[in-house]
Amino acid sequence: MKILTLETTCDETAAAVVTDRPDVLASVVASQDDLHQRFGGVVPEIASRAHVERILPVIDEALRRAGITLGELDAVAVANTPGLAGSLLVGLVAAKTLCVALGIPLIAVDHLQAHVYACRLASGEEVFPCVGLVISGGHTSLYRCLGPVDFELLGATIDDAAGEAFDKVANMLGLAYPGGPSVQQAAERGNPKAYRFPRAFLQDRERLDFSFSGLKTAVRYAIAGPGRPDFTRVRLAPQQVADLAASFQEAVVDCLVGKALLALERTGLRVLCVGGGVAANARLRQRLGEECGRGGIRLHVAPLPLCTDNAAMGAIAVERYRAGLFEDLGLDALPGMVRKTG
Ligand code: KG4
Ligand code: ZN
Repeated sequence: MKILTLETTCDETAAAVVTDRPDVLASVVASQDDLHQRFGGVVPEIASRAHVERILPVIDEALRRAGITLGELDAVAVANTPGLAGSLLVGLVAAKTLCVALGIPLIAVDHLQAHVYACRLASGEEVFPCVGLVISGGHTSLYRCLGPVDFELLGATIDDAAGEAFDKVANMLGLAYPGGPSVQQAAERGNPKAYRFPRAFLQDRERLDFSFSGLKTAVRYAIAGPGRPDFTRVRLAPQQVADLAASFQEAVVDCLVGKALLALERTGLRVLCVGGGVAANARLRQRLGEECGRGGIRLHVAPLPLCTDNAAMGAIAVERYRAGLFEDLGLDALPGMVRKTG
């Protein structure tokens, strides 16, 4: 069985061909980082236009690399939730058109479930039931994952996503977009204890939520106090940038690790799967490894190419195919997060 999977939820135009093993025959990602760089974040209108330009060449390239033709496909899957409305629609229309033209079934993919499924795909092992931590530019959520498409939300950010905070702080520090990799790099030379930044909800054992907007403001005030709104003109020494980056990163990592451990304790589950762009963070991976090792928790963190948005993780469509979960042409783009599935 061969499924073409499409991913256009945010600013990556991606297509992959997967089999029912599940196995990835080809995975193509066209990044739009160069288009959004000068704005310091994703501009939705630019993202959807770029998807329109790229989706067909990206699909062609995925089929070429997989060595198959359109006629050999058994189904087309598309991430229809959550994401930017205009971006989601491009993938959705492409998928529906192919399904009608080829007379094959349409499968819906939940982008956040797919981020967790990246761990299942990479490990080749059963990972469910597990706690799933999805940390990306748009989401920061903890789930009780009873199966690949059976998720219950345990907690989420009440404001900024972790990746969004990385991107905004990078912008304040004059570092490149996307902010995650550049903050991580700057942090390597910095002292994580140089600044004492807030760790929202960390001591609150009743909540599995996150909040990063106060942390972002704390970084801004560390650059220039509340009385000086022109913080963009402040010239920071390289060591200051490194210390701010390291202290900020440590605060985010403390919150993510702390709440993931609390979710494991509360659910009694012994497996943790971590996916999404921020899961690429080296300091987070190190801390998760240490803490899970100590606690006897089986840890799966998506490998780097499967952390940031890609269509290979759309291999979760295989699970829906097996369960006979197909969609009709009324399938809609759902920009908001689905709280409970399955
Ligand atoms: O999953 P993703 O590709 O897109 C969304 O679904 O949002 O995640 C992108 C986010 C960006 O905010 C980016 O700064 C962050 O992931 N990111 C990182 C790292 N690499 C990417 N954050 C921290 N450390 C990294 N190494
Ligand atoms: Zn994502």
